[in-house]
This record gives sequence, C-alpha cells and structure tokens, in this order.
Amino acid sequence: MPISGKTRVVVHLTYPAKHLRTPEFFNPLLERLGYDGVLVPWEVSPANLATAWQGLRGIENLAGVIVTVPHKLEVATLCDELKGTALLLKVCNVAKRLADGRFTGRMFDGDGFVAGLKKQGHDLGRKRVLLLGAGGAATGIAHALLAEDIQELVISNRTPAKAEALALELRLMFPGKRVNAGPADASGFDVVINGTALGLNARDPLPLPVETLAAGTIVGEVVMNPDITPLLTAAAERGCIIHKGAHMITGQVDLLAEFLFSQAGV
Ligand SMILES: NC(=O)c1ccc[n+]([C@@H]2O[C@H](COP(=O)([O-])OP(=O)(O)OC[C@H]3O[C@@H](n4cnc5c(N)ncnc54)[C@H](OP(=O)(O)O)[C@@H]3O)[C@@H](O)[C@H]2O)c1
Repeated sequence: MPISGKTRVVVHLTYPAKHLRTPEFFNPLLERLGYDGVLVPWEVSPANLATAWQGLRGIENLAGVIVTVPHKLEVATLCDELKGTALLLKVCNVAKRLADGRFTGRMFDGDGFVAGLKKQGHDLGRKRVLLLGAGGAATGIAHALLAEDIQELVISNRTPAKAEALALELRLMFPGKRVNAGPADASGFDVVINGTALGLNARDPLPLPVETLAAGTIVGEVVMNPDITPLLTAAAERGCIIHKGAHMITGQVDLLAEFLFSQAGV
C-alpha cells in the first residue's frame, strides 16, 4: 500500500538503530493484513528519550511505538498505563497512542519468543531451561516460559543480583515453579537461551562457555543481527539445535500489528 496522508505511523525507538530488522518483517505484514501503516526506525539516545516521548504525544497519525534496546524499562515508566505482562514486570516493548495522546504499554517479547519456538516445532514440556540475561527481553521470556509446562528455569546474568531479584519475583508470581539464579553453565539443560545483548557486536565475548553445551541441546537467541550469531555457530559445531533471534520477531509481529492497528487491540 503506498504511503499517503491517511497512513498511520509506528515509530521504532532504539539506540543504536543500525542492527534493526523489525521493519523488514513488520511492514510486509501490515501490507498482508491490509493495514494502512508504516514502521520507521527512530534512533534516540537514552538522554533524549523523555523529550522525544513528549513530542510523540502530539503526533495524531501515530498508531504507536515499538521499543527495543535500551529503552524498554524507561518507556514503561513513560506510559500512562500498562497492561498484562508489562504491568506485572514494568517492562514494555510496544505502546499504543490513544486519541488523547496517552500511551498504553504492553510486553510481547516473551510471548513472541515462545510462539517462535513452537512455530519451529520445539516442545517445552518438562524441559530444563537456562536463560542468559535479566534485562527487558530476558524478563519477558522468563515470564512466558513459566507460563509453559517447563520443569526448571535457571537465570544467569553478568550482574548476578539482577538475576536473583528476577528469580525471586518470578517465584512469587508462579508458586510451585522451580526458578533460580545460577551460573552460565549449560551442563544438564535441554534448552539454553541467550537473552543478553551479547552477539550484536563482532568483538562481543560469547555469553557462556560453549564447551558446557551438549549435542542435542536447543540453543536459542534473541540477537537478530547477525542472523547467525557466534553463539549459534559454536552451538551448531557442537551438534546443538539452533534457533535464531529472528524467530522471536516472526513469532510476535502478528501480536504487535493487532495491538497497534485493530480497534479491539487496546
Ligand atoms: N529477536 C527479537 O525479537 C528481540 C526482541 C527484543 C530484544 N532483542 C535483543 O535482545 C537483546 C537484549 O535486549 P534487552 O532489551 O533485554 O536489553 P537490556 O534490557 O539492556 O538488557 C541487556 C542484557 O544483556 C546483558 N549484557 C549487556 N552487555 C553485556 C556484556 N558485555 N556482558 C554480559 N552481559 C551483558 C545485561 O546484563 P547486565 O544486567 O549485567 O547489564 C542484560 O542482562 C538485544 O540485543 C536486543 O536487540 C531481540
């Protein structure tokens, strides 16, 4: 659909923007679904986020905002209301602009990751899962994983206190589920997920010692660029089943489009 005066705009808030791949999935989806909308990247530094946000309130043809690294926690504080997982976790990756300039925030990252795993035919039933990271994406994924019938979740993070705080919060939210903080060691796990930003830059270290990965382990990524991260390359070399970061976005673009463009999506 050609861009016209009736087209509604979605802004993707991120910093830096060069790694962004969501527009390549989201814009064709809007076309397929028949929504007259367009997603454009906005590279906004954390220092300028609040000012940019204030400006967005006055943009009347703005359908909403998709949010990624490093803004998910801050945007949750800028929204006027949060719903669902966003309200529980105070993290959001999408916000819909209401007619009066207020924003409703939601969090679909975790649901998108789990939907992506299922779409690729991976079953989470009774699996032991190691999740690396405790930031916005990892928090959403942890929440969505615990809504599944997994056997155990261990969260490992560079800043261990954040993993411990997240595990504690999740134990309260999901009584009876096994969830703990732990080391970045894949021994004995069925599924390992990189939920950190490591892999985005060529010089990044690997997010865990790959020699702890056993053949047959499912190794998933949140990092989408490069398509095959050094972790996925190393995991494939060790006989693991790899699951790309791109599946997380293909798993959730439908949810994002429906929330931003359908009348029932609030
Ligand atoms: N595929 C998708 O659809 C999708 C969706 C959302 C996000 N993502 C990707 O997910 C990644 C994380 O995003 P986010 O929103 O969760 O970011 P975030 O909230 O800033 O969290 C970043 C996480 O990475 C860890 N980390 C950062 N640098 C590190 C380093 N040098 N060594 C070890 N750990 C490090 C942080 O640990 P500390 O707590 O110690 O700082 C934290 O756990 C980004 O690459 C983003 O592009 C992908």
